[in-house]
Amino acid sequence: MVHVHRFLKCHYLLCCSVICNQAADLVIELSSTPKPKPDVIPFGTVFTDHMLTIEWNASEGWQAPLIKPFGNLSLHPATSSLHYAIQLYEGLKAYRGDDNKLRFFRPMLNLKRMSNTAKRACLPAFDESEFLECIRRLVETDQDWVPNSDSASLYIRPTFIATEPALGLRKPGSALLYVILCQVGSYFKNKAEPLSMWADPKYTRAWKGGTGDCKMGGNYGCSLFPQYEAEEHGCQQALWLYGEDHQITEAGTMNLFLHWINEDGEEELATPPLDGIILPGVTRLSVLELTRKWGEFKVTERYLTMSQLCLALKQQRVKGMFGSGTASMICPIGHIVYQGEVRDSSRPTEDTAFSLALFQRLKKNKSVICQPISWPGSSHFLKSAGFLATPIVMTRLQEVPRNN
Ligand SMILES: *Cc1c(COP(=O)(O)O)cnc(C)c1O
Ligand SMILES: *[C@@H]1O[C@H](CO)[C@@H](O)[C@H](O)[C@H]1NC(C)=O
Ligand SMILES: *[C@@H]1O[C@H](CO)[C@@H](O)[C@H](O)[C@H]1NC(C)=O
Ligand SMILES: *[C@@H]1O[C@H](CO)[C@@H](O)[C@H](O)[C@H]1NC(C)=O
Repeated sequence: MVHVHRFLKCHYLLCCSVICNQAADLVIELSSTPKPKPDVIPFGTVFTDHMLTIEWNASEGWQAPLIKPFGNLSLHPATSSLHYAIQLYEGLKAYRGDDNKLRFFRPMLNLKRMSNTAKRACLPAFDESEFLECIRRLVETDQDWVPNSDSASLYIRPTFIATEPALGLRKPGSALLYVILCQVGSYFKNKAEPLSMWADPKYTRAWKGGTGDCKMGGNYGCSLFPQYEAEEHGCQQALWLYGEDHQITEAGTMNLFLHWINEDGEEELATPPLDGIILPGVTRLSVLELTRKWGEFKVTERYLTMSQLCLALKQQRVKGMFGSGTASMICPIGHIVYQGEVRDSSRPTEDTAFSLALFQRLKKNKSVICQPISWPGSSHFLKSAGFLATPIVMTRLQEVPRNN
């Protein structure tokens, strides 16, 4: 359990005369109308009974954290996060183990990344350990929502928004840090099936000097249009390319790995380096650490281009590709459509035979077809690889703590 010291650091740019708060100040108001827990739900549609909110403003600093019944926010219409996307989020999971104990998957990595993103967004700094302790208390409050299933878990969505009620574009004078929770099964509908990807250099997810290495909402809203174009081309996700040489960067909202025999004839697991345009995924890091520990093949952070990939596919040197991320852990990549004629040809229909034929045709036209990977242990290998934190200490709340 985290020791309760000063809760949230003062604003990193303000002098620290403001009063700082502590996780010990946490106030819990329990819901009097708990919801029934659904069986099967689409991702992120049904939330648990409680949420955590922590308010900040420039004059008073951080206010006492509050766990309260899940409910709507009330925002000023000029709120700067709505106009200028001064906001960010994180995504992590809590699992119920066979021992019935709950565990977070490497949560401090998410909170460190959240701190970095907050700095880039000009949002105030906070103490990561104290924030984690507040999240732990929230999960504890809603612990019955953590599914009792190997393939399901509790998704934790910390969110940080500027709440400055004015139109001037400036560093926000007020902000809201909040956390909501939802059950999550498998993120993708066709779980077993490898993803089909559409790679077109006309769209760019992130660029040098930008915010591609931050989990800011603005990065994702603008990926929707290419995402739908990918679907129009019969693919599930966009494969993001970068630069003149069509570097492969990320797969949808996942980091990307290529398991292949490289140009030098070595077996290699490769992923693009963290050069500012790649989101530093917790799963990515875990895959790198694990496979380096295995020592069974070369593990490299290096640039990969579409021409290298196409050549490797032609020479049958590709063992597999996969995306990595909290939502689906490891997700094999099947087809990649690249430099095809799709836009000029008739669109794929529901007729799968037609779609298949389309892929075959594209294949002959320099497009890429990969075989799905057969990864040991598949999506469960990370969970069982010792990355889960020691169990979250859960004590059932006996009483509603008083306000102050
Ligand atoms: C969140 C995210 C990932 C995966 O990060 P994890 O920490 O492994 O969940 C990869 N790429 C992008 C663009 C992301 O937003
Ligand atoms: C800052 O927050 C405190 C506590 O909620 C509140 O009393 C005060 O009015 C706020 N100040 C501003 C400028 O919004
Ligand atoms: C919260 O907002 C939603 C969507 O606008 C609305 O349907 C719902 O009634 C609101 N809930 C309350 C308690 O106001
Ligand atoms: C490949 O594209 C060319 C035009 O770019 C087209 O004429 C040809 O039919 C395509 N090949 C196949 C197999 O579809």
